[in-house]
Amino acid sequence: MERLDKFLCDCGVGTRSQVKAILKAGRVRVDDRPEKDGSRKIDPGSSRICLDGQSLGTAGTVVVMLHKPEGYVTATEDKQEKTVMELLPEQYRHLDLKPVGRLDKMTTGLLLFTNDGELLHKLISPKNRVQKIYVASHEGQASEADVLAFREGMELRDGTKCLSAVLEPLGPGQSRITVCEGKYHQVRRMMAARGMHVQKLHRQQEGSLTLGDLPLGQTRQLTPEEIEQLTIDNYL
Ligand code: URA
Repeated sequence: MERLDKFLCDCGVGTRSQVKAILKAGRVRVDDRPEKDGSRKIDPGSSRICLDGQSLGTAGTVVVMLHKPEGYVTATEDKQEKTVMELLPEQYRHLDLKPVGRLDKMTTGLLLFTNDGELLHKLISPKNRVQKIYVASHEGQASEADVLAFREGMELRDGTKCLSAVLEPLGPGQSRITVCEGKYHQVRRMMAARGMHVQKLHRQQEGSLTLGDLPLGQTRQLTPEEIEQLTIDNYL
C-alpha cells in the first residue's frame, strides 16, 4: 500500500504541489469514486486510479515522448553539450527516465524516455524489429538500385552489416527510411554508402507511435493503451 499523492507523483502526473492542486480540483478517481485526500492509502497493483477519466495504469511504467529539436545530445549527462534530459519538465525529473535509443545532436523528431528497463530493451533490440521511420533531406536522388540495396540489407563503408530496411524516394533530395535497429549514425551512414549525404534528418515514428501535433521541444506522457500498443504492433 502507498499514499495516493506519492503514486501520482511517481506516475509523472506532476510535482508534489501540482499533485496537491490536481487532487483538490477533484480530477482524481480511485476505483470509480472521486478522491481528494492525498494521504489515502492505495494498492497500485489492484486499485484503479484515473486522472481526468483516464486510467494511470498499475505497473508504474512511465513513457514520455519528446519532439526533439536540433542541438541536444541524447545522453543522460554531458560535460560540454546540452542534453535531451534538460527538455524534460520538472515533474519527470525524479523518475529515473532513460532515453530509448538515441537521436544525433542534429536529428529532430520523436524520442521516447522510460523508467521501464524491460520495455526499453524491447523497443531497441533489433531482434524485436520495432520500426523507426525517418524523413531525410539529402544530396542526390534515390534510385531503384538504392531501394533494392536497402531491402537486401546493406553493408556500410566500414563493413558493418545492416538488416533489411525500406527506402522510399519522396521527391528530389528527399526520402523516407524505415529501419528496425539503431546502429551509430545508421541512417546517415546507410545513405552515405549510396552516395547521398544527409543534410537533415527527422524521426517521424517509432512502432505505432507518431508525434501527432506535439510542438517542437515539447513532451507528453503516453497513455497505458499507447504503451501497450507500442510493443505489439508495427514491426518491419
Ligand atoms: N540514424 C542516424 O544516422 N541518426 C539518427 O539520429 C538516427 C538514426
